[in-house]
Amino acid sequence: MKHVISPLDLTVQELEDILTLAEDMIAAPDKYKEICHGKKLATLFYEPSTRTRLSFEAAMMNLGGNVLGFSSADSSSASKGESVADTIRVISGYADICAMRHPKEGAPLVAAQYSSIPVINAGDGGHNHPTQTLTDLLTIKKLKGRLDNLTIGVCGDLKFGRTVHSLIRAMIRYENIRFIMISPEELRIPDYLKKEVLDAQNIPYNEVSVLEPVMPELDLLYMTRVQRERFFNEEDYIRLKDSFILDSKKMKLAREDMLVLHPLPRVNEISTEVDEDPRAVYFEQAKYGVYVRMALIMTLLGLEV
Ligand code: CP
Repeated sequence: MKHVISPLDLTVQELEDILTLAEDMIAAPDKYKEICHGKKLATLFYEPSTRTRLSFEAAMMNLGGNVLGFSSADSSSASKGESVADTIRVISGYADICAMRHPKEGAPLVAAQYSSIPVINAGDGGHNHPTQTLTDLLTIKKLKGRLDNLTIGVCGDLKFGRTVHSLIRAMIRYENIRFIMISPEELRIPDYLKKEVLDAQNIPYNEVSVLEPVMPELDLLYMTRVQRERFFNEEDYIRLKDSFILDSKKMKLAREDMLVLHPLPRVNEISTEVDEDPRAVYFEQAKYGVYVRMALIMTLLGLEV
């Protein structure tokens, strides 16, 4: 039995197989519509979500399976003090696979240690978000045509942004990847990621605090939200929240084939005028999330057409 807690729990080959399966699901969805008949997915969300929870649920329904779960800690027995370990031991008797989001880093890993069903990390604190990374990789592969030879700008909250942390870990496994990290000083990527991941593998990157000068260099711009829920101090959030706002004027500095991705939700960091730009692909990206989650569920359940 396999759990997916970090993007690195999937080898490059497994990841590519999932992307290929997802592409086939886009092309021929009917082939898969009964594959999970009789199977159940539990969505255990201790933290708010729109895309991840609902796309997991849509994915299981598209495969002919059923879903059960909770969408906040308050509506589960976590509010009475039940541990993640006890919860997953119980849920293992109710469902065949589960997706867990939790505000604490490492909670899905703890769940995996006590689970007798596959556990998928649907986002743990500021740590990892592997199914967002699968979504991002499918978007890049389909719309850019490659996963190698890319200069990737990651912009916004790089300190707490789990989508960025997971994306970096996944993308450095491809050839000739370079990062430009665009953030305020206080929201730079954590030192452990620089030392243990980027420096350890000689991945080129530079850190800047202004977006405009680097726009012409980018193949991809991955925008992220400054996350109010990760700050200890409201004053710091207010000071930093509008550090970067991508608008049509800044888009004029970018290449014609640069793509703008965002895991969403967006607050102010991308002006709505950018939505009409054909290079803005974040809503398409959210749609791909259903297909990669379908492919992941099917793979972890060991099902084949
Ligand atoms: N991208 C993402 O994780 O969105 P949600 O928080 O809405 O699930």
